Amino acid sequence: MTTEKRLDLEAMMRPDLLELEEYTPVEPLDRLSVRLGIPIEQLVKLDANENPYGASPAALEALKNQQYYHIYPDPSALNLREELGKYTGVSKERIFVGSGSDELLELLIRLFISPGDNILDFAPTFGMYSFLGELYRAQIRSVPRHIKDYSIDVEAALAAVDEHTKLIFICTPNNPTGNSAPESVVRALLDTGKIVVVDEAYHDFAGHSFIKLTDEYENLIVLRTFSKLSGLAGLRVGYGIVPEIIARQLWKIKQPYNVTVAGQEAARASLREGNWIAEHVEKIVAERERLYGLLQEFSDYFEALPSSSNFIFCRLKQGSAKLIKSELEKRGVLVRHYNKPLLENAFRVSVGRPEQTDIFIEHLKQIIYTQ
Ligand SMILES: Cc1ncc(COP(=O)(O)O)c(C=O)c1O
Repeated sequence: MTTEKRLDLEAMMRPDLLELEEYTPVEPLDRLSVRLGIPIEQLVKLDANENPYGASPAALEALKNQQYYHIYPDPSALNLREELGKYTGVSKERIFVGSGSDELLELLIRLFISPGDNILDFAPTFGMYSFLGELYRAQIRSVPRHIKDYSIDVEAALAAVDEHTKLIFICTPNNPTGNSAPESVVRALLDTGKIVVVDEAYHDFAGHSFIKLTDEYENLIVLRTFSKLSGLAGLRVGYGIVPEIIARQLWKIKQPYNVTVAGQEAARASLREGNWIAEHVEKIVAERERLYGLLQEFSDYFEALPSSSNFIFCRLKQGSAKLIKSELEKRGVLVRHYNKPLLENAFRVSVGRPEQTDIFIEHLKQIIYTQ
């Protein structure tokens, strides 16, 4: 084929996908470093809620010692699921492992959604629910949260449920706003009898989990990830606590080798390092509270919301969040900026190491007080 345009390739594609708004992932560090002309080690990366301390020494050691990278991984991730069983107190038959919790979200949507069904989420929230829902032609019902504190509007949520509702996504603590959903809200949504997916990507920082309700409700799924506290975002491992009957179907529709050898090994090692985990939760939570305190100094410019996660959401009262983001970026400090309905003129900053917080605050002062 020449490069001359003869076939209308786009006309052959699914028309609804051509319209789909693309998901905006974060820019890879090495590219960013070249674009900004700042060495990677000087970048202060506070834009993706990763663990600023990296992976645990045990996980790094396990990766170094693994001899079998040339062999396909265990498709059932049995060893990891057994250890997750001990860690969560749930039988391994109810544990499903995926390539990040993103893959688990996609598999659940693949399993439950036929075109025309609807899914509920509570906006603003993690963008993958609606992105993946659209990919599978679900109607997305994003029920707006209360604007004051971003709590879920239960009445509106219940009113949005109908016979075509298949999945309800509750992100708690919620990304990007940082607040948690109370148990009464989760129970009210479970009582609809629809499948409720509780996304606990950040539960460690809240010190609270809904796994205990999985014994009581057969329509509850809880998703977790090794990407945040465990510091393994680059290896892509997530897991779900699902009813056995759902797990059986998920096994059928996943790709056989979805979780890599490296991912399975590192995840197992990090589960065994209970002390490291506990120590890092403590450090990150203490630093979140310090950062929250420091951000109050800017209360004339923006409101920093209380957070039960490893990031803080800030909405501006004056000035431009986009400008703050781009000025910080020029100085090598990365935060996430938002400007869409319910997230107007706002940014989210992840909790970093104390020295990273200090650099961020120093630059923020310069930008806000001198622009
Ligand atoms: C709420 C929430 N759920 C899921 C994910 C995806 O996690 P993973 O890296 O396991 O795919 C993220 C990542 O940012 C998230 O914020």
